[in-house]
Amino acid sequence: MEFSIKSGSPEKQRTACVVVGVFEHRKLSLAADLMDRISGFYISDILRRGDMDGKLGSTLLLHNVPNTLCDRVLLVGLGKEREFKDKEYREAVGAAVKTLNATGSTEAAMYLTEVPVKKRELAWKVEQAVIVAMESVYRFDRLKSKQEELRRPLRKMVLSVPRRNELAIGEVALSQGLAIAQGMNLVKDLANLPGNICTPTYIAEQAQELAKTHQMKIEVLEQKDMEALKMGSFLSVAKGSRQPPKLIVMHYAGGKKDQKPVVLVGKGITFDAGGISLKPAAEMDEMKYDMCGAASVLGVFQAIAEMKLPLNVVGIIPTCENLPDGNANKPGDIVTSMSGQTIEILNTDAEGRLILCDALTYAAKFEPAAVVDIATLTGACVIALGHQASGLLANHDPLARELLHAGEYTYDRAWHMPLWDEYQEQLKSNFADIANIGGRAGGTITAACFLSRFTKDYEWAHLDIAGTAWKSGKEKGATGRPVPLLVHFLINRTTA
Ligand code: BES
Ligand code: MN
Ligand code: ZN
Repeated sequence: MEFSIKSGSPEKQRTACVVVGVFEHRKLSLAADLMDRISGFYISDILRRGDMDGKLGSTLLLHNVPNTLCDRVLLVGLGKEREFKDKEYREAVGAAVKTLNATGSTEAAMYLTEVPVKKRELAWKVEQAVIVAMESVYRFDRLKSKQEELRRPLRKMVLSVPRRNELAIGEVALSQGLAIAQGMNLVKDLANLPGNICTPTYIAEQAQELAKTHQMKIEVLEQKDMEALKMGSFLSVAKGSRQPPKLIVMHYAGGKKDQKPVVLVGKGITFDAGGISLKPAAEMDEMKYDMCGAASVLGVFQAIAEMKLPLNVVGIIPTCENLPDGNANKPGDIVTSMSGQTIEILNTDAEGRLILCDALTYAAKFEPAAVVDIATLTGACVIALGHQASGLLANHDPLARELLHAGEYTYDRAWHMPLWDEYQEQLKSNFADIANIGGRAGGTITAACFLSRFTKDYEWAHLDIAGTAWKSGKEKGATGRPVPLLVHFLINRTTA
């Protein structure tokens, strides 16, 4: 979809559809009121007849509104005016775009961006409108033999800003929103692919393509390279699969030469069957999403390259499969990680931490300003936080706050969980330096405790996206989270 920014009154827009908001009890937003007056109270007349009350997310399409230059006017319910906040704004924009897309308006002028939203400014409204719009029209049907063609899909959207001197703010917000939305689409496309197509090799190829498009340096380490680095933990997971593992290392160099990079590390298990500690069959297909951390690193790289962000960022992606096999890890096996620490693998399904620990040890080599890993790490995180918030754990509180704040801003929220020393005891092993599981209690925390043993040399945060990276059920599909959080975290680091 194409977007542009404009300032001007709604009745003068020559477009297929002008989109304006209506609060509950038929209270018109400013733009709706303008249209109403110009049209000789055509809109309020219709509303009085009971066609629409302004319930949040409801829509009503009007044709031939007098004295306007547009083909249609779309009224969008905004709910109670006093309760119109970020969540409601996103819902209203989503409802509008769905209706536009389904009713033949190939272009539209969106005036919801002018409606005041509690504690949110114009830049936020524009950015979110773009992200929500792209989300609403996203489909993944490339693997169906016939693609359903929408007859007249929404192609162009003009986002309105109230004043001419706000055009520049709108333009910046638009380009950021678009970069983020496209990054999210890349994540969704990669993650929605099944495990037989999206293999470690495929991810490496996609990363190489992305690097080529944006002239970024990239290295793909092969099994023999990782053997030389003594990544015994990562390789132990990979050896239960016929697909060769890859360690992808990408460099985005937008900052000054001597500026220390932020390092992003993404878990790239392209399918997690659990290994010998085999998972139950129900919903096992969703374990194709166990590479969403990896995909989000690629999505962020695309977005920041698109934005030409003045910052240095390194992306590290350990990727392999976790399958049961004659050569797979067995419960009780002990492996030696790159750090030298030995690990007793009490459950082969706790494989994410086994591949991440070696990637995190490798990260130190880049003398990072900060390291953030992103992983669909624990089912326990879904139990603790559901599907709204990603789990956030860190060895440095200011870094945690930066991430929390970026998540709040983008409505891609995280929740800070404790990483207290007391939890470390759950990882004691009788036979190795550390066990790879810590029992049922506090599973997300003990997983992070495990990683923390490998991140002592730098400021580090961990995002557990097990509950946020994809949706189950009827709307099964990747969400593109936490790309918005991460991109804003990085944007904020450029001005810090
Ligand atoms: N990829 C899973 C985590 C997961 C499970 C994410 C379900 C989303 C939904 C991870 O590799 C895993 O299997 N973790 C185990 C850890 C346990 C064995 C300590 C889990 O959460 O059950
Ligand atoms: Mn697992
Ligand atoms: Zn996993």
